[in-house]
Amino acid sequence: MPPSDHPAGPGPASAGPAGSTPTTVGTPTVLSASAGPNTSGPLTADAPTTGEPLLVATGLRKTYRAGRGLGSSSRVHAVDGVDLTVAAGETLGVVGESGCGKSTLARLLVGLERPDSGQVRFAGLDVGTARGTRRRELRRAVQMVFQDPVTSLNPRMPILDVVAEPLDVHKLARGAVARRDRVAELLEMVGLAPDMMRRFPHEFSGGQRQRIGIARALATEPRVVVCDEPVSALDVSVQAQVVNLLAELQQRLGIALVFIAHDLGVVRHVSHRVAVMYLGRLAELGPAGTVYQDPAHPYTRALLGSVPVRHPRERGRERIVLAGDPPSPVDPPSGCRFHTRCPIAQDICARETPALLVPEGDAPSVAGERVAACHFAGTPVTPGRE
Ligand SMILES: Nc1ncnc2c1ncn2[C@@H]1O[C@H](COP(=O)(O)OP(=O)(O)OP(=O)(O)O)[C@@H](O)[C@H]1O
Ligand code: SF4
Ligand SMILES: [Mg+2]
Repeated sequence: MPPSDHPAGPGPASAGPAGSTPTTVGTPTVLSASAGPNTSGPLTADAPTTGEPLLVATGLRKTYRAGRGLGSSSRVHAVDGVDLTVAAGETLGVVGESGCGKSTLARLLVGLERPDSGQVRFAGLDVGTARGTRRRELRRAVQMVFQDPVTSLNPRMPILDVVAEPLDVHKLARGAVARRDRVAELLEMVGLAPDMMRRFPHEFSGGQRQRIGIARALATEPRVVVCDEPVSALDVSVQAQVVNLLAELQQRLGIALVFIAHDLGVVRHVSHRVAVMYLGRLAELGPAGTVYQDPAHPYTRALLGSVPVRHPRERGRERIVLAGDPPSPVDPPSGCRFHTRCPIAQDICARETPALLVPEGDAPSVAGERVAACHFAGTPVTPGRE
């Protein structure tokens, strides 16, 4: 169950090396850099005054104890050195295979978990050290939508109370009438009839329950919403409806959205930028158009299956098929964590960890916007090369 006021902590998400200029690059279907929601309070006002992106994650690391044995000293390296930024009004897609650390990253971003090391800042404020009023403001400003709309809603509460809970926690509605009116407004915002507020969660379909979860997340007029696989538990037939709803709401409200998904296809049309994760680290991060049309990291190419390459005449079309499961995050491979599955791995790959750098050969129009963690980023896939 989520905490009573929904996750809210600072959370960030997005791209580029930490500290980079906030950008809304690419050509997402959604989002405008419109004014933020009609909020009050310094952290929910229109723009941060620090000059840095709205959310900034720097060097995030999170490990868990592996296994239940008291004597076990092994650790699961769930998130291992992630730098991200999220600009106001931006959608950052985060994708990667199961177990790569997406949910852990989401929890770190919203402040539901503390990193072992590293930091998350929201509007310049350190989420980890904020206390009292500032912490409450952070919780209000950064919200989360969970993957499973069944377990994330209290089955014993009518929808009125489910959606109003954050209003109560943050004292955002004065009196029963204002509370009910605000819930009605929120339900309408997500495409549900206001009179549904008297019903209980089990009386709704999966898609409707996720809409309720979204209404609840929006109750505090957040500036950032982190959505952890918001459509994975839904029938394919309703996935697009919920994705479109999130896109439409983002455009209307001007919120920043971190959209986590298993595969690149889900976030393709709604992301300004996309971050690809592999075993707790970022493999590639950049404008959605660039990453989809010209992926630089072999893992991104594998996720995309068959992709057009930068110089088709020279390279033809490359196809990488991912073999096997990812290695264990308890004992991740040395150097580049992808080297055990990478078709162009060389000796150096097991020895040296590649930094997130601008791929050689990126056009000036995108140079500096996209980074990839590969010693040979952007090079043709020719197994046995070198
Ligand atoms: N509370 C926890 N205790 C121990 N290990 C954990 C905990 N939470 C996550 N892990 C481990 O950390 C790693 C990353 O998990 P996480 O849930 O963040 O991945 P994910 O990318 O969200 O996966 P999925 O796509 O399946 O949701 C996994 O190996 C997972 O087993
Ligand atoms: S660093 Fe080496 S193993 Fe890693 S993705 Fe690049 S070529 Fe493959
Ligand atoms: Mg997850």
